[in-house]
Amino acid sequence: MKIAVIGTGYVGLVTGTCLAETGNEVLCIDIDQEKVNKMQNGEVPIYEPHLDVLFERNIKANRLRFSTSLEEGLEHGDIIFLALPTPEDEDGSADLKYILGVADNIGKLIKDYKVIVDKSTVPVGTSDKVKAAIAKHAKVEFDVVSNPEFLREGFAVDDFLKPERIVVGSSSERATKLMEKLYKPYVRSGNPIIIMDEKSAELTKYASNSFLAAKITFMNEIANFCEKVGADVDKVRIGMGTDSRIGKRFLFPGIGYGGSCFPKDVKALHKSGQENNYNFKILDAVINVNARQKLVLIPKIENHFDNDLKGKNIAVWGLAFKPETDDIREAPSLYMIEELLSQGANITAFDPEAMSNVKRKLGTKINFANSMYEALKDADALVISTEWSIFRTPDFSKMKDLMVGHTIFDGRNLYEVKDVVNEGFKYISIGR
Ligand SMILES: NC(=O)c1ccc[n+]([C@@H]2O[C@H](COP(=O)([O-])OP(=O)(O)OC[C@H]3O[C@@H](n4cnc5c(N)ncnc54)[C@H](O)[C@@H]3O)[C@@H](O)[C@H]2O)c1
Repeated sequence: MKIAVIGTGYVGLVTGTCLAETGNEVLCIDIDQEKVNKMQNGEVPIYEPHLDVLFERNIKANRLRFSTSLEEGLEHGDIIFLALPTPEDEDGSADLKYILGVADNIGKLIKDYKVIVDKSTVPVGTSDKVKAAIAKHAKVEFDVVSNPEFLREGFAVDDFLKPERIVVGSSSERATKLMEKLYKPYVRSGNPIIIMDEKSAELTKYASNSFLAAKITFMNEIANFCEKVGADVDKVRIGMGTDSRIGKRFLFPGIGYGGSCFPKDVKALHKSGQENNYNFKILDAVINVNARQKLVLIPKIENHFDNDLKGKNIAVWGLAFKPETDDIREAPSLYMIEELLSQGANITAFDPEAMSNVKRKLGTKINFANSMYEALKDADALVISTEWSIFRTPDFSKMKDLMVGHTIFDGRNLYEVKDVVNEGFKYISIGR
């Protein structure tokens, strides 16, 4: 099939590449000329495991191409995916200017029947707005489908190629049939393509992300309470997770959720509630608890240094909002670093993939190390903020030699407490 993907970021590029992988001819469109130049030169503009291999293979096979022209995209594709940003607006709602701006232009450019598929995460009712924006100018038939994306950064290729489910919100039989045909190769193992109305599809995405954010947040509160009463959150987590109604995943406490999705999606659902006369009290709590949790290590650090961080050398391991990505949007590390800098600390950070993104944001405000050990040289303490696997089994004696102060603040509970203490460190983690 002939596909155009409008917006070639984390979702658009993975979608385009993985659709090409099953034989479709895909044209990816982005307004960012520099990004498009890079991709045309065979360079993957983001870090996402396994994406490079598929990217190269499909470019070589001429199934994957790139352009900045929306017009070309519309001429090429029978199915037009929108994978555009829906960032948080000032009032917490999802900003639809990218989606509706492109929809307006599609209306002006569309010359024959197309299925416009919204992959971006959008509030309930957006597909009606997209339809209206296109219909304002369009002189031909078209359908709008809501097809929320559930891929996880770090596992995006696998998630796209082998999805647990595909949600398609559509009220057009013609469009539904096309979507089923397109996605059939990805659900050969029997996972479902769930067809529903557009509004339910839009809400399914927000409900899923908000539920997961609430699960993480609940566990973070339990961890904080463990510290008050002398319980061990690791034990509680295992005790809870073995109940199949609860499940083992998303029960790991830490320094809050971040990233490009959970923070904005929880806020957008909360705002959607308000706009429809519904007060999502649970989401209010999730938002507030998470904001506090991102800084949960700060009082512990202050306490350790007797409230005097001026001139203290703090090493930071991990900048990305989670492992296996270079994405730093809403990363807890950045909130912590800002607070530590404001109190006069010197920061030296290391992250396997996210340093160039942080360099663009923070410039010379912090130092960047070439390795996890280099970051520790003369450090008074180490703060761990992302659970990259290379941090999981460090050489503690090497760390001890490099560091001046032997204290680790671990926001991701990477180690057994007794192991780190036996190595001669003071070890402060979450809920233990
Ligand atoms: N990142 C994720 O893990 C993830 C997962 C599921 C859903 N989503 C949702 O998918 C959507 C896209 O997210 P993302 O992380 O891929 O965003 P992104 O910022 O990585 O990518 C968006 C791309 O759109 C381009 N763009 C902006 N305006 C454009 C225009 N007018 N024409 C063409 N291109 C344009 C940008 O240059 C950028 O490359 C969001 O709604 C997000 O909530 C993201």
